[in-house]
Amino acid sequence: MARKIILDCDPGHDDAVAILLAAGNPAIDLVGITTIGGNQTLEKVTFNARQVMTIAGLIDVPLHAGCTRPLVRPVEVAADVHGDSGMEIHGFELPDPRVSVEQAHAVDFIIDTVMSHEPGTITLVPTGPLTNIAMAARKEPRIVERVREVVLMGGGYHEGNKTATAEFNISVDPEAAHIVFNESWPVVMVGLDLTHQALATREVEERFAQLGTQAGDFVVGLCGFFREAYRQAQGFDDPPVHDPCTIAYLIDPAVVSTVKVPLDVELRGALTTGMTVADFRAPAPEDCHTSVAVRLDHERFWNLVVEAVRVL
Ligand code: BDR
Ligand code: CA
Repeated sequence: MARKIILDCDPGHDDAVAILLAAGNPAIDLVGITTIGGNQTLEKVTFNARQVMTIAGLIDVPLHAGCTRPLVRPVEVAADVHGDSGMEIHGFELPDPRVSVEQAHAVDFIIDTVMSHEPGTITLVPTGPLTNIAMAARKEPRIVERVREVVLMGGGYHEGNKTATAEFNISVDPEAAHIVFNESWPVVMVGLDLTHQALATREVEERFAQLGTQAGDFVVGLCGFFREAYRQAQGFDDPPVHDPCTIAYLIDPAVVSTVKVPLDVELRGALTTGMTVADFRAPAPEDCHTSVAVRLDHERFWNLVVEAVRVL
């Protein structure tokens, strides 16, 4: 049975690749896509989602826009790595979107979808700030015990990128992250320790170029901008493609190995606000509901993404 997921994202170059992977792999049943202000404003990332969904042929998948700003803090975007549009691209003409945005707010869509499906069947996959997911849990607390799992890209137990200790998605809305990590649903944190292994090398890029398709050329265009932005902003030779690691984990857990460990989010540190704190001191207690991704099988990961893009 394909895994039913709601992808809550802020496209974003790597969010775009997550959408393509979810669209092109039969193990995933994409029930809906929701957007959240993050890499750019809500308006911009929602427009980008419409373009990506058009390329992916996701014409019948509902798209709902969510919160424009974090729960407590001001809006912060990541123009340094995603550009002015949030999805700047090299040498590829993005199509006019053929997907429209549904009326209902993303938070209500998430609640209605979880409540109208059998308990334990819907997985939430946030790849942006956690504002929509936190709002949904607060507005309808009964979703917490009905959601199968929250598999999120964010945080890290050794690394930060927005600050020395905090990753961007968590740092933008740490209060929302605090809510999501402290609810009792199973949470899998696919953080920087894992996603910095998901490098789009020149060889990987060439595999997409070889496909000779619109979706393949789109990924090549994404990599072109992302490579240069990551080189300038963070000194990477090859860009880490974070967000599709969540989808890869759901398709084949052997690609992304995880370890159970208690997790929490720092809200008030002078140097550590937005840090995800993993307590590795002892074996995790029986009732521990959080885990972190630790190791990526690079080859199998990119095989999954290339194959998904190929069939689109
Ligand atoms: C995360 O932040 C965003 O810039 C990316 O899309 C990814 O979700 C990486 O820190
Ligand atoms: Ca993202």
